[in-house]
Amino acid sequence: MKEPFVIAIDGTSASGKSTNARLVARALGWVYADTGAMYRTLAWYCRNHRIEVQDARAVAAACRKWKTKLACVETDGLRVARLFIEGYFPEKEIRTAEVSAAVPHVAAIPKVREWMVKRQRECLQFGNLVMEGRDIGTNVFPETDFKFYLDAKLEERSRRRAADGVRENLAARDQRDSQRAVAPLMIPLGAKVINNSNLTSGQTSGLIIAEVRKRLAEK
Ligand code: DC
Repeated sequence: MKEPFVIAIDGTSASGKSTNARLVARALGWVYADTGAMYRTLAWYCRNHRIEVQDARAVAAACRKWKTKLACVETDGLRVARLFIEGYFPEKEIRTAEVSAAVPHVAAIPKVREWMVKRQRECLQFGNLVMEGRDIGTNVFPETDFKFYLDAKLEERSRRRAADGVRENLAARDQRDSQRAVAPLMIPLGAKVINNSNLTSGQTSGLIIAEVRKRLAEK
């Protein structure tokens, strides 16, 4: 296997994917890519343009037309791959409860997923990646040797979201993400599963970094 390398971090909602993917990317000096943010950006765009997120044809048409650009930006010393829409990245807007409720509908549309997977693979242009999502190890980069699947007890995940000031039905979202026909959330073949209900993010990311360093040394 040759560079650029990809660390695929998949898992349930609020299982610590973002926090740990950022810590791992920072420790290794690799580029961080949040694919959930890409789906959220489309859900936000649809809401702004009064496109019904349950209307698969309309959402797929919007996804063909919207003016986007992938870019690698540096924030707080971390290099991050981002999808800009008309030159803007809606960082705060995509985290609202309304967008969280709309996004599973957008993410279940096959044409949307095709478009997103292409953009996600294009992130390799920025170098070695730590990419988080729901189908990175199964679908976006199934050939990578660095696959991780994070999970935690539902009560713990709900507690984490509440601590961030967000109230949402995580069980319902996980069910939608796991039961959809295209690229459902599942444990990728060969992934190291980490249940971090009782772990700190330092411990979880430490496990991932140690495993990656061990495998890199074997290459
Ligand atoms: O990780 P997140 O909560 O920001 O993800 C938002 C939604 O996008 C979530 O409902 C699942 C979906 N998603 C997906 O289907 N595939 C990905 N690779 C990433 C996110």
